[in-house]
Amino acid sequence: MGFFSKIFKKQEPLLHQADLSVLKSDIHSHLIPGIDDGAQTLNESIELLKIFKESGYKKVITTPHVMSDYYRNTPEIINDGLYKLKKEIKSQGIDIALEAAAEYNVEPDFEEIIKNDKVLTFGGKNRYVLIELSFFKEPERLNETIWALNNKEYSPVLAHVERYEYWHKDLDKVTEMINRGVKLQLNIVSLTGAYGPEIKKVANWLVDEKIIDLVGTDCHHSKHLDMLQIARKLPKFHQLISQPQIINSSL
Ligand SMILES: [Fe+2]
Repeated sequence: MGFFSKIFKKQEPLLHQADLSVLKSDIHSHLIPGIDDGAQTLNESIELLKIFKESGYKKVITTPHVMSDYYRNTPEIINDGLYKLKKEIKSQGIDIALEAAAEYNVEPDFEEIIKNDKVLTFGGKNRYVLIELSFFKEPERLNETIWALNNKEYSPVLAHVERYEYWHKDLDKVTEMINRGVKLQLNIVSLTGAYGPEIKKVANWLVDEKIIDLVGTDCHHSKHLDMLQIARKLPKFHQLISQPQIINSSL
């Protein structure tokens, strides 16, 4: 087999670019300017939101990091940023709905936030709360934190479930999360291999198992949206967004 035929054999067949209006809402991004490692200026946020709109999204629920070591964002800081960004969207006549929640790092400070009822949620009465875990090791008090959320009638959503490599050899952990009442969110760009082949493999498995509840861009900057355009042509992405359990369009 020649060099080129080997390469072409490896390539997945691409489909037409999926219409993202099927999803309606994106539920994971970092677009409030200057408060985390996402968009840094109002201008940058606006440019990204224009691409969301062009890609077919009708609504963006943006989720700044809340993490005690780096991003000590409060509901006041997030809502203040949201207010300014919405004002700019309106003045520029960009037709996209914008809401904010947060992406909470599972750590002791988050348990305090839960205790004090200072949690930002999305999805109205469903009270979805986006949580993320360390990429290095499973947080010690993960189960206690999930219990505390459920106990206060929040509905935990685990961000980019495919990216926790310490679970890749024990995917029963994913099933355990479902059994504990956690909804699962997949980063769309994981399907492209942008985070590496192992993460892509797990992402594909999650799609085949039909256990993803919510999909998100996790957009921090324009490169993530470039990757999104590639993901839109993948058969696996087409398969994912046609699954009936995906919640995005109801938000
Ligand atoms: Fe994120």
